[in-house]
Amino acid sequence: MQKNAPIGVLDSGVGGLSVLKCLHAALPQEDFIYVGDTARTPYGPRSEAEVRRFVGEIIDYLAGRGVKLVVVACNTLTVLGVETLKGGHPFEIVGMSKGAELVLAASPSKKIGVFATEFTINSGAHKAAILAKDAGADVYPKACPKFVPLIEGEQFGSAAVREAVAEYAAPLKAAGIDTLILSCTHYPLIQQEIEAEFGSGVTVIDPADATAQDTQAALAAQELLRADGVGYLEVCFTADMKRGARIASRVLPAADCEFAEIKL
Ligand code: DGL
Repeated sequence: MQKNAPIGVLDSGVGGLSVLKCLHAALPQEDFIYVGDTARTPYGPRSEAEVRRFVGEIIDYLAGRGVKLVVVACNTLTVLGVETLKGGHPFEIVGMSKGAELVLAASPSKKIGVFATEFTINSGAHKAAILAKDAGADVYPKACPKFVPLIEGEQFGSAAVREAVAEYAAPLKAAGIDTLILSCTHYPLIQQEIEAEFGSGVTVIDPADATAQDTQAALAAQELLRADGVGYLEVCFTADMKRGARIASRVLPAADCEFAEIKL
């Protein structure tokens, strides 16, 4: 594996851009190739067999591009177990941090909410990760199936987003949570609306920075960190490149970013 090879980053759509932003900030000397499967988003309501097939195709594509590591910037895919996604490729795969330490450190009352896709919530992975560190915590998972289509549909700041946020927040507010983790990489794109609904008494955690730290550590352990240079971002979508680029311009620094539409 070459130090100068790019890092692959993937998601079902535009959500993983929120992780790419943190990766680029933490590792500015690295090149990144992002693949968002906008042709088949959302993954959250799909079957395991289907999402395994899709992610296998993306990882094969990234392998063909010569990546040195892949970041699965998607919780729905991470809960499948990143080791099981390797498909015989030699590079390491880093999944999304479950953020258990972060939420426990942020929560005085240990009443913690989890917002994620149905797939992720049904896996129970985030609740289990928090309880493994503190068996006395009260964890309130909530599936939010309306969010990804609204975000992919660029409904930022709309009444539809505010209504969906209010609907999903209601049971967690009633439970008295003081901390909420966004365990879907799309949700930081509407973090403002989520924070406004919960108010200042609830700390909202995005585990993307922790994921970037995990990626840095994985590269360092394999002596694959690039020492210098200025990295580029190549952002690929499987459909609707213009829409993806518009959303990317909300999330990423405008400079050093090229867009492409690809077929898997
Ligand atoms: N952004 C993804 C996640 O973190 C997937 C959303 C979806 O496609 O349903 O779970």
